[in-house]
Amino acid sequence: MLRSDATGPRPRFARRATLRRSLRLLGSFRFEQTDPARFYGGIAADTADLIADFYRDLTGRDLSGTVIVDVGGGPGYFADEFAAAGARYLPIEPDPTEMHAAGLTVAGAVRGSGMALPIRDDAVDICLSSNVAEHVPQPWVMADEMLRITKPGGLMVLSYTVWLGPFGGHETGPWHYLGGEFAARRYTRRTGKQPKNRFGRSLFAVTAADGLRWARETGGRARILATFPRYHPRWAWWVTRIPGVRELLVSNLVVVAAKPLG
Ligand SMILES: C[S@@+](CC[C@H](N)C(=O)[O-])C[C@H]1O[C@@H](n2cnc3c(N)ncnc32)[C@H](O)[C@@H]1O
Repeated sequence: MLRSDATGPRPRFARRATLRRSLRLLGSFRFEQTDPARFYGGIAADTADLIADFYRDLTGRDLSGTVIVDVGGGPGYFADEFAAAGARYLPIEPDPTEMHAAGLTVAGAVRGSGMALPIRDDAVDICLSSNVAEHVPQPWVMADEMLRITKPGGLMVLSYTVWLGPFGGHETGPWHYLGGEFAARRYTRRTGKQPKNRFGRSLFAVTAADGLRWARETGGRARILATFPRYHPRWAWWVTRIPGVRELLVSNLVVVAAKPLG
Protein backbone atom coordinates (compact mmCIF):
# COMPACT_ATOMS: atom_id res chain seq x y z
CA MET A 1 0.00 0.00 0.00
CA LEU A 2 1.27 3.44 -0.90
CA ARG A 3 1.68 5.98 1.82
CA SER A 4 2.30 9.70 1.87
CA ASP A 5 4.38 9.77 5.01
CA ALA A 6 8.13 9.46 5.14
CA THR A 7 8.14 5.87 6.47
CA GLY A 8 5.93 4.01 3.96
CA PRO A 9 6.74 2.71 0.50
CA ARG A 10 7.21 5.62 -1.87
CA PRO A 11 4.75 6.54 -4.55
CA ARG A 12 6.57 6.56 -7.92
CA PHE A 13 5.81 10.29 -8.17
CA ALA A 14 8.00 10.99 -5.09
CA ARG A 15 11.08 10.55 -7.31
CA ARG A 16 10.04 13.53 -9.39
CA ALA A 17 9.34 15.73 -6.37
CA THR A 18 12.76 17.33 -6.23
CA LEU A 19 13.73 20.81 -5.08
CA ARG A 20 14.53 21.67 -8.69
CA ARG A 21 10.96 20.82 -9.74
CA SER A 22 9.54 22.90 -6.87
CA LEU A 23 11.62 25.92 -7.85
CA ARG A 24 10.67 25.53 -11.51
CA LEU A 25 6.95 25.42 -10.70
CA LEU A 26 7.10 28.27 -8.20
CA GLY A 27 9.06 30.36 -10.72
CA SER A 28 6.33 29.84 -13.31
CA PHE A 29 3.54 31.06 -11.00
CA ARG A 30 4.33 34.70 -11.64
CA PHE A 31 3.41 34.23 -15.32
CA GLU A 32 -0.15 33.06 -14.61
CA GLN A 33 -1.72 36.42 -15.57
CA THR A 34 0.88 37.75 -18.06
CA ASP A 35 1.83 34.60 -19.96
CA PRO A 36 -0.77 31.90 -19.23
CA ALA A 37 0.60 29.57 -21.93
CA ARG A 38 3.97 29.49 -20.19
CA PHE A 39 2.45 28.98 -16.75
CA TYR A 40 -0.10 26.36 -17.82
CA GLY A 41 2.35 24.55 -20.11
CA GLY A 42 4.59 23.77 -17.14
CA ILE A 43 1.80 22.85 -14.78
CA ALA A 44 0.11 20.70 -17.44
CA ALA A 45 3.24 18.60 -18.02
CA ASP A 46 3.75 18.20 -14.29
CA THR A 47 0.11 17.22 -13.72
CA ALA A 48 0.22 14.63 -16.51
CA ASP A 49 3.36 13.12 -14.92
CA LEU A 50 1.66 13.03 -11.52
CA ILE A 51 -1.43 11.29 -12.90
CA ALA A 52 0.62 8.86 -15.01
CA ASP A 53 2.80 7.89 -12.05
CA PHE A 54 -0.09 7.20 -9.68
CA TYR A 55 -2.04 5.37 -12.39
CA ARG A 56 0.98 3.16 -13.02
CA ASP A 57 1.40 2.52 -9.29
CA LEU A 58 -2.25 1.51 -9.13
CA THR A 59 -2.68 -0.52 -12.31
CA GLY A 60 0.79 -1.18 -13.73
CA ARG A 61 -0.33 0.51 -16.96
CA ASP A 62 0.34 3.81 -18.72
CA LEU A 63 -2.36 6.30 -19.70
CA SER A 64 -2.91 5.10 -23.26
CA GLY A 65 -6.57 4.31 -23.90
CA THR A 66 -7.75 5.74 -20.58
CA VAL A 67 -10.62 8.19 -20.22
CA ILE A 68 -9.76 11.15 -17.99
CA VAL A 69 -12.30 13.68 -16.73
CA ASP A 70 -10.83 16.97 -15.52
CA VAL A 71 -13.35 18.72 -13.26
CA GLY A 72 -13.05 22.50 -13.55
CA GLY A 73 -10.68 22.08 -16.46
CA GLY A 74 -11.11 25.70 -17.62
CA PRO A 75 -10.29 26.01 -21.32
CA GLY A 76 -8.49 22.65 -21.32
CA TYR A 77 -4.87 23.68 -20.78
CA PHE A 78 -4.05 20.07 -19.88
CA ALA A 79 -5.55 18.60 -23.06
CA ASP A 80 -2.38 18.36 -25.16
CA GLU A 81 -0.33 16.67 -22.44
CA PHE A 82 -2.93 13.98 -21.81
CA ALA A 83 -3.52 13.50 -25.53
CA ALA A 84 0.23 13.03 -26.00
CA ALA A 85 0.07 10.29 -23.37
CA GLY A 86 -2.66 8.56 -25.41
CA ALA A 87 -5.56 9.39 -23.06
CA ARG A 88 -9.02 10.63 -23.97
CA TYR A 89 -9.23 13.88 -22.01
CA LEU A 90 -12.60 15.48 -21.18
CA PRO A 91 -12.71 18.78 -19.30
CA ILE A 92 -15.91 19.67 -17.43
CA GLU A 93 -16.32 23.36 -16.79
CA PRO A 94 -19.35 25.41 -15.66
CA ASP A 95 -18.20 28.82 -16.88
CA PRO A 96 -18.43 29.42 -20.66
CA THR A 97 -16.06 32.39 -20.38
CA GLU A 98 -13.40 30.13 -18.88
CA MET A 99 -14.07 27.47 -21.50
CA HIS A 100 -13.26 29.91 -24.28
CA ALA A 101 -10.58 31.86 -22.44
CA ALA A 102 -7.54 30.59 -24.28
CA GLY A 103 -8.94 30.02 -27.75
CA LEU A 104 -8.51 26.25 -27.30
CA THR A 105 -10.92 23.77 -28.81
CA VAL A 106 -11.08 20.54 -26.87
CA ALA A 107 -13.32 17.94 -28.47
CA GLY A 108 -15.65 16.48 -25.88
CA ALA A 109 -15.46 19.43 -23.48
CA VAL A 110 -18.62 19.46 -21.37
CA ARG A 111 -20.33 22.32 -19.60
CA GLY A 112 -21.32 21.33 -16.09
CA SER A 113 -20.64 21.71 -12.40
CA GLY A 114 -18.38 19.53 -10.29
CA MET A 115 -21.13 19.43 -7.68
CA ALA A 116 -23.45 17.54 -10.08
CA LEU A 117 -21.30 15.92 -12.73
CA PRO A 118 -23.21 15.12 -15.92
CA ILE A 119 -21.65 11.65 -16.13
CA ARG A 120 -23.01 8.25 -15.10
CA ASP A 121 -21.63 6.21 -12.18
CA ASP A 122 -18.41 4.18 -12.64
CA ALA A 123 -17.68 5.67 -16.07
CA VAL A 124 -14.10 6.93 -16.22
CA ASP A 125 -10.65 5.52 -15.54
CA ILE A 126 -9.36 8.70 -13.93
CA CYS A 127 -11.09 11.72 -12.43
CA LEU A 128 -8.91 14.72 -11.76
CA SER A 129 -9.51 18.16 -10.32
CA SER A 130 -6.76 20.74 -10.06
CA ASN A 131 -7.13 24.04 -8.22
CA VAL A 132 -10.91 24.00 -8.27
CA ALA A 133 -12.19 22.90 -4.83
CA GLU A 134 -11.40 26.31 -3.30
CA HIS A 135 -13.70 27.92 -5.90
CA VAL A 136 -16.67 25.68 -5.11
CA PRO A 137 -19.18 26.28 -2.28
CA GLN A 138 -19.53 22.54 -1.60
CA PRO A 139 -16.11 21.07 -2.40
CA TRP A 140 -16.79 17.75 -0.65
CA VAL A 141 -19.97 17.21 -2.63
CA MET A 142 -17.69 17.66 -5.66
CA ALA A 143 -15.18 15.15 -4.27
CA ASP A 144 -18.00 12.62 -3.73
CA GLU A 145 -19.16 13.23 -7.29
CA MET A 146 -15.64 12.62 -8.59
CA LEU A 147 -15.54 9.31 -6.78
CA ARG A 148 -18.99 8.39 -8.06
CA ILE A 149 -18.04 8.69 -11.75
CA THR A 150 -14.68 6.90 -11.31
CA LYS A 151 -14.68 3.22 -12.33
CA PRO A 152 -13.96 0.60 -9.67
CA GLY A 153 -10.21 0.10 -9.92
CA GLY A 154 -9.82 3.68 -11.19
CA LEU A 155 -7.98 6.70 -9.85
CA MET A 156 -9.20 9.98 -8.41
CA VAL A 157 -6.89 12.93 -7.78
CA LEU A 158 -8.10 16.10 -6.09
CA SER A 159 -5.69 19.00 -5.61
CA TYR A 160 -6.60 22.40 -4.19
CA THR A 161 -5.19 25.59 -2.74
CA VAL A 162 -5.31 25.70 1.05
CA TRP A 163 -6.88 28.89 2.42
CA LEU A 164 -4.23 29.77 5.00
CA GLY A 165 -1.35 29.05 2.64
CA PRO A 166 0.56 31.84 0.89
CA PHE A 167 -1.63 31.62 -2.25
CA GLY A 168 -4.95 31.05 -0.42
CA GLY A 169 -6.18 34.60 -1.01
CA HIS A 170 -5.30 34.46 -4.73
CA GLU A 171 -5.06 38.03 -6.04
CA THR A 172 -6.35 39.41 -2.70
CA GLY A 173 -3.49 37.86 -0.70
CA PRO A 174 -1.77 38.22 1.68
CA TRP A 175 -4.62 40.26 3.12
CA HIS A 176 -6.77 37.12 3.38
CA TYR A 177 -4.88 36.48 6.62
CA LEU A 178 -6.99 39.34 8.01
CA GLY A 179 -10.18 37.77 6.63
CA GLY A 180 -11.50 36.97 3.17
CA GLU A 181 -14.13 39.71 3.18
CA PHE A 182 -11.61 42.31 4.31
CA ALA A 183 -9.17 41.21 1.60
CA ALA A 184 -11.84 41.36 -1.10
CA ARG A 185 -12.98 44.86 -0.10
CA ARG A 186 -9.42 46.09 0.13
CA TYR A 187 -8.71 44.78 -3.38
CA THR A 188 -11.76 46.60 -4.75
CA ARG A 189 -10.78 49.83 -2.98
CA ARG A 190 -7.26 49.67 -4.41
CA THR A 191 -8.04 48.58 -7.97
CA GLY A 192 -11.55 49.87 -8.54
CA LYS A 193 -12.78 46.41 -9.52
CA GLN A 194 -13.97 43.22 -7.88
CA PRO A 195 -11.40 40.45 -7.61
CA LYS A 196 -12.04 37.64 -10.06
CA ASN A 197 -11.76 35.25 -7.13
CA ARG A 198 -14.32 36.88 -4.79
CA PHE A 199 -14.39 35.53 -1.24
CA GLY A 200 -17.76 33.96 -0.45
CA ARG A 201 -18.77 33.77 -4.12
CA SER A 202 -15.99 32.20 -6.15
CA LEU A 203 -13.36 31.70 -3.45
CA PHE A 204 -13.85 29.77 -0.22
CA ALA A 205 -11.81 29.03 2.88
CA VAL A 206 -10.98 25.34 2.37
CA THR A 207 -8.50 23.97 4.88
CA ALA A 208 -6.00 21.13 4.63
CA ALA A 209 -7.83 19.52 7.56
CA ASP A 210 -11.04 19.51 5.47
CA GLY A 211 -9.41 17.45 2.71
CA LEU A 212 -7.77 15.05 5.13
CA ARG A 213 -11.10 14.59 6.94
CA TRP A 214 -12.84 13.81 3.64
CA ALA A 215 -10.10 11.28 2.89
CA ARG A 216 -10.49 9.67 6.32
CA GLU A 217 -14.24 9.53 6.09
CA THR A 218 -14.54 7.99 2.62
CA GLY A 219 -14.65 4.64 4.42
CA GLY A 220 -15.00 1.74 1.99
CA ARG A 221 -15.78 4.03 -0.94
CA ALA A 222 -12.10 4.82 -1.57
CA ARG A 223 -8.63 3.66 -0.65
CA ILE A 224 -6.45 6.69 0.01
CA LEU A 225 -3.11 6.23 -1.74
CA ALA A 226 -1.43 9.48 -0.74
CA THR A 227 -1.96 12.95 0.68
CA PHE A 228 0.90 15.39 0.11
CA PRO A 229 1.73 19.03 -0.66
CA ARG A 230 1.67 19.34 -4.45
CA TYR A 231 4.56 21.71 -5.04
CA HIS A 232 6.92 20.64 -2.23
CA PRO A 233 9.99 18.46 -2.60
CA ARG A 234 9.56 14.96 -1.23
CA TRP A 235 11.62 15.66 1.90
CA ALA A 236 9.08 18.33 2.93
CA TRP A 237 5.96 16.17 2.55
CA TRP A 238 5.92 15.66 6.32
CA VAL A 239 4.28 19.10 6.73
CA THR A 240 0.97 17.46 5.80
CA ARG A 241 1.04 15.47 9.04
CA ILE A 242 1.30 18.38 11.47
CA PRO A 243 -2.01 20.04 12.45
CA GLY A 244 -1.83 23.83 12.31
CA VAL A 245 1.52 23.85 10.53
CA ARG A 246 -0.05 22.19 7.51
CA GLU A 247 -2.59 24.98 7.12
CA LEU A 248 0.23 27.51 6.72
CA LEU A 249 2.79 25.43 4.81
CA VAL A 250 1.06 22.84 2.61
CA SER A 251 -0.17 25.51 0.19
CA ASN A 252 -1.76 22.98 -2.17
CA LEU A 253 -3.02 19.63 -0.90
CA VAL A 254 -3.22 16.59 -3.16
CA VAL A 255 -5.52 13.72 -2.20
CA VAL A 256 -4.99 10.58 -4.28
CA ALA A 257 -7.61 7.85 -4.00
CA ALA A 258 -8.32 4.53 -5.65
CA LYS A 259 -11.90 3.33 -6.05
CA PRO A 260 -12.05 -0.23 -4.77
CA LEU A 261 -13.06 -3.05 -7.13
CA GLY A 262 -16.46 -4.57 -6.57
C1 LIG B 1 -8.12 28.29 -11.01
S1 LIG B 1 -9.07 27.56 -12.26
C2 LIG B 1 -8.27 25.99 -12.43
C3 LIG B 1 -8.15 25.56 -13.86
C4 LIG B 1 -7.37 24.26 -14.07
N1 LIG B 1 -8.07 23.14 -13.48
C5 LIG B 1 -5.97 24.36 -13.53
O1 LIG B 1 -5.55 23.57 -12.69
O2 LIG B 1 -5.23 25.24 -13.96
C6 LIG B 1 -10.56 27.15 -11.40
C7 LIG B 1 -11.63 26.61 -12.33
O3 LIG B 1 -12.70 26.05 -11.55
C8 LIG B 1 -13.89 26.32 -12.23
N2 LIG B 1 -15.05 26.13 -11.35
C9 LIG B 1 -15.66 27.03 -10.56
N3 LIG B 1 -16.75 26.48 -9.97
C10 LIG B 1 -16.82 25.20 -10.40
C11 LIG B 1 -17.72 24.12 -10.17
N4 LIG B 1 -18.80 24.25 -9.38
N5 LIG B 1 -17.49 22.96 -10.80
C12 LIG B 1 -16.42 22.80 -11.60
N6 LIG B 1 -15.54 23.79 -11.86
C13 LIG B 1 -15.73 24.97 -11.27
C14 LIG B 1 -13.69 27.75 -12.68
O4 LIG B 1 -14.63 28.16 -13.65
C15 LIG B 1 -12.26 27.70 -13.20
O5 LIG B 1 -12.19 27.31 -14.54
